[in-house]
Amino acid sequence: MLTAKDIIGKFDLQPHPEGGFYKETYRSAGQISSSALDGYYSGSRNYATSIYFLLTSEAFSAFHRIKQDEIWHFYEGNPICIHSISPSGIYSKIILGMAIKKGEVPQYVVPGGHWFAAEVIGNGNFGFVGCTVSPGFDFADFELADSTNLIQLFPAHQLLIKQFTRV
Ligand code: GUN
Repeated sequence: MLTAKDIIGKFDLQPHPEGGFYKETYRSAGQISSSALDGYYSGSRNYATSIYFLLTSEAFSAFHRIKQDEIWHFYEGNPICIHSISPSGIYSKIILGMAIKKGEVPQYVVPGGHWFAAEVIGNGNFGFVGCTVSPGFDFADFELADSTNLIQLFPAHQLLIKQFTRV
């Protein structure tokens, strides 16, 4: 049976600051200038990037946000629940997976600027997905949530935020 360790080893996945393990699989050669990005980004960015991303029951993805919309694709393992909070505080959750009759979806787009976290459903499991963004990923566009600050912004979601932050 395929394990998380097999996938981490096979694709040389590395720990991600938000939790889980990742490896960049694509970074376009082309660049978009910062002026063409209307000043929303701190510099030029590649057209697009993509990663492999693996979560385990022990390693959730903590609340974070990026500027870009992020397209998640399900590949293997157990379904993954994505929790997101919009800038105006609206909570939504979806399950990324292949049990389409149960309402799971193989692909989901997290809108840019939303705070989001993700967890594998069940114990002792892993979920293996892809995440693609355009403009391309840059850690300058990535913010890991501080639980105190995020709870201050969204007090109604205190329990959820505590569950899915580490700092
Ligand atoms: N590259 C490094 N980290 C990330 C991430 O969280 N998402 C995407 N799409 N690319 C990354």
